[in-house]
Amino acid sequence: MDDYRDVNRASWDERAAAHAASPDYAVSRFRDDPSFLSGVVAFDRPRLGDIAGLDGVHLQCHIGTDTISLARLGARMTGLDFSPPALEHGRRLASELGLDVEFVESELYGAPEALGAGRFDLVYTGIGALCWLPDVRRWAGVVASLLRPGGRLFIREGHPVLWSLADPRPDGLLALEFPYFERPEPLVWDEGGTYVETDVEFVNNTTHEWNHGLGEIVSALLAAGLDLTALEEHDSVPWNALPGQMHEIGGGEFRLTDRPERLPHTYTLQARKRG
Ligand SMILES: C[S@@+](CC[C@H](N)C(=O)[O-])C[C@H]1O[C@@H](n2cnc3c(N)ncnc32)[C@H](O)[C@@H]1O
Repeated sequence: MDDYRDVNRASWDERAAAHAASPDYAVSRFRDDPSFLSGVVAFDRPRLGDIAGLDGVHLQCHIGTDTISLARLGARMTGLDFSPPALEHGRRLASELGLDVEFVESELYGAPEALGAGRFDLVYTGIGALCWLPDVRRWAGVVASLLRPGGRLFIREGHPVLWSLADPRPDGLLALEFPYFERPEPLVWDEGGTYVETDVEFVNNTTHEWNHGLGEIVSALLAAGLDLTALEEHDSVPWNALPGQMHEIGGGEFRLTDRPERLPHTYTLQARKRG
């Protein structure tokens, strides 16, 4: 396997079942409580506003828990991902819950061909999505192509400063070790495990990842024909991004324990397509 997509897909395909079974994705709570929303979408809700009746697409939707949460808020949702097992979990849960959500298999850059251009009022993505993509300008082109004129992008994502941090140091200082700016070459990792609680041992552990600076992301969206409408940096992140250095603060959010004000953990960016 040479292509970054094949390498990364093997890792994601293998993790889908463990994620669906993990308490962190709370799949059973969707079944038990018809008003339950994922922690990620519950955090976004005040910023999302009323999305009822919108045609929405969730890019890199994984096992569909956020996609389904957006459908519970009244949007007509489509989820897109390149991992067939992840999509299968989403389809199964939506069908059990009686929700009409479409799950489409496609590589991200092929989304306009897979879904059709200019079809959506809302593109929703993030929480570990951009780091799998080598070219943020191309990603912004995909977002612009999927939206109708006046349609919105909503993304809450791990902050590029967070992605660039070194492993914990004994003196507690945060050190920048990995690229902040986009580089043509990926960071290649070979690490077992995953970001949720699980005992499963994985065999496909190589991943290829990229960082994208905040300015690069904003500039790519402006160049693709979107106007920025909101940009907020947060002091929490919805997974334990720095194990041993963070604690849970409720709602599935984690914060640096020592002087959290040093670190932008995540950001929410909203933009609207011109026209
Ligand atoms: C961390 S999940 C993000 C989804 C969501 N935030 C969640 O936690 O449920 C990353 C997803 O991106 C998908 N992905 C990675 N690279 C992709 C690509 N090139 N095209 C389409 N999907 C991709 C993976 O299959 C995975 O489901």
